[in-house]
This record gives sequence, structure tokens and C-alpha cells, in this order.
Amino acid sequence: MTGDLIATAEASPNIALVKYWGKRNNSLFLPTNNSISITLDRPLVTRTSVLFSNRLSRDEFWLNGRLQKREDSTNVFRILNLMRTKNQGLKALVVSHNSFPTSSGLASSASGIAALTIASARALRLRYTVKELSIIARQGSGSACRSIIGGFVEWDKGTRPDGTDSYAKQIFPHTHWPEIRILIVVVETEKKAVSSRIGQINTIKTSKLFPARLELINEKLAIFRDALAKKDTDRLFPEIMRESNNLHAVMMDTWPPLIYFNCVSLNVIKLILEFNKSEMRAAYTLDAGPNVAIITTIAYVAELKRLLSQIKGVRFVLESKVGAGPKIIKDTSEHLIDVNTMRPRKVLDEPVKGV
Ligand code: PMV
Repeated sequence: MTGDLIATAEASPNIALVKYWGKRNNSLFLPTNNSISITLDRPLVTRTSVLFSNRLSRDEFWLNGRLQKREDSTNVFRILNLMRTKNQGLKALVVSHNSFPTSSGLASSASGIAALTIASARALRLRYTVKELSIIARQGSGSACRSIIGGFVEWDKGTRPDGTDSYAKQIFPHTHWPEIRILIVVVETEKKAVSSRIGQINTIKTSKLFPARLELINEKLAIFRDALAKKDTDRLFPEIMRESNNLHAVMMDTWPPLIYFNCVSLNVIKLILEFNKSEMRAAYTLDAGPNVAIITTIAYVAELKRLLSQIKGVRFVLESKVGAGPKIIKDTSEHLIDVNTMRPRKVLDEPVKGV
């Protein structure tokens, strides 16, 4: 088995409070603004095993038991190529499994690319720093650079043309605010929306609101850092909702318009506004899709779940704490690859459906 290099890692998706939307360099995934996110925890986790071996004849990427088409694996192959700078000859088998339903429209690219980056570095025995791992993950999917780190995270856009200063840093650990809970409200989707890659290019080209968004972003980032430091929900929660609204105003101002939310998402938004009538108890935020993330504190989770279950079109709700960040899985029986047969192992557990 000499020449076989294998490792397994787990990472979770992240939810941006201040969003990344727009690139100053499309091929290097360099953003136009800093973003701030919360890294999630179980049950939202992607496990990825990677095997580099001279016994393999081509790169393969398996996701949730299915071999992925080459055209759907370009981000994964880009990470592999960045990793094996010294031994491009070694082919790789990548096997990934999401604990949450991929078809539900939940962004798994951030967790998947982060887990792949960490597993690949481990397998190839590359001693990269967290900063270097974040820079590499960024080039598989922008938001993946934030999933390399746990807790509350800020991705610095950087200014250098080569992207060496564009990476994520922790601003507060996951223990900073233990009461925080994130509810992911998975809603019925009618059809696949425009990809975030194409959407961002069109926004930069056509939206007249976009430059105004960027003008105010530094002021906004400072408010978020301060409100997070002070755990000030009265300031933080309205800012989260206004930032999400601001992004979606820019998206709708893009031509052709990017309308990522649907009627169910709007009903969830209205529910949160109503829920906050007497005091600020929760905040909604939406990315490039109709699912809604709700940021709240443990005290309101049960009541929110009860209210959400009454909205027609809400399929299920996943609950997460703030996550500690990715981890390496050392136990070889937990690998998703059988090294002898060089095939994916069968994963028996079904994706979590939530409540
Ligand atoms: O990383 P991408 O290309 O999937 O972009 C995601 C951008 C948003 O999810 C809309 C916002 C963010 O910062 O995560």
C-alpha cells in the first residue's frame, strides 16, 4: 500500500451576517468587500475523505454515494491541483458525504471545499497554516475560506492582485456567545436559481445600487464587530436583517433580476418581524436561495420552531450552535474510502431531516 496517502476531515457550512457578493477577480475568487460569518455545527457537517495514489488512473469525486460528472467537479479538481504542486502525477479519489440533504438547496460547497482542503493537506503531509488553508479553500468556493475556521469569522477582502492577503480570520471563538442558535429553514423550491457565480458577475455589470452598498460597507462591518463583541442583540439583529435586505435589493436591481427568495421565504421574514414586535428576539438572513437562516438565542428556539411549523411550504428546520470549526478524523474505520479496493465505502446513515 506504499504510495497511498489518505486522510479524512469534517467541516460545516457558514452563514454570512455581512455578505460576500461581487468579485474583483473572478478566477482567484477575490471579493469586493469583507464579510462576517458564523460557522455552523452538527447536524450540518460534510465529511470528506481523500486518497492520493499512484494506483489511481484519474481524479474522481463522489458526493453522497454518486460519482459526479467532471463538469460538476471543477472546483474540487482545482483544489486538488493547488494541493499537489509537487506531485501532479498522483491522482486522487475524493469521497464526500453531507449529513444534511444536498438536494434541499443548502449550500454544501463551503463545507465540502473546506473539508477537502484540510483532508488533502493532511494526506499529502503539507504543513499549511490556517491562513494558507483559507487562501486555498477560497479558490474552490469563495465562502469556503470562512468554513476553515470555527466561531465568528471575518474574511478580509485583501488588496493585493495575487490574493495573498484575502483570507478568513476568527474574530470570536465559538465559546464567545454560547446562547446563540441558528435555525435553517428549508423551504419548498420551485426551480434552480441563477448560480452565485453568474449572479455576481451580472450584479457588478448592471446594478446601480451595488456601488452604494460598497460605500457603506466599512461602517457596517464596524457595527457588526462591536455588536458581536458586546453580544448586543438590540443592535445586531436589526443590522443582520437590514444587511440581508440590502443584498437582496442589489440582487433585484441586477439585470436580469436575481430573485432568490420565494413566497414561503417572505412568510418566514414576516413571521420574524412579527415575532420581534415587542422586543428584538431573532433575525432572518437569506443567501442566493429561498432558504432562510434565523439567528436567535436558545430561549426562543422552541417557540420559533412551533411558529415555523405552521407556515405552509416550510419543509423542515435544522438547528445549530456556533461551531468550533473543522476537524481531522483519525480513526481509519471512519474513512469514506476503502484503501484496498480504492472504492467509496457505503455510508449507512441517512441525511438528517431536522424537525
Ligand atoms: O461562495 P459562493 O460563490 O457560493 O457565494 C456565496 C455568497 C452568499 O452566500 C450569497 C453570501 C455569503 O457571503 O456567503
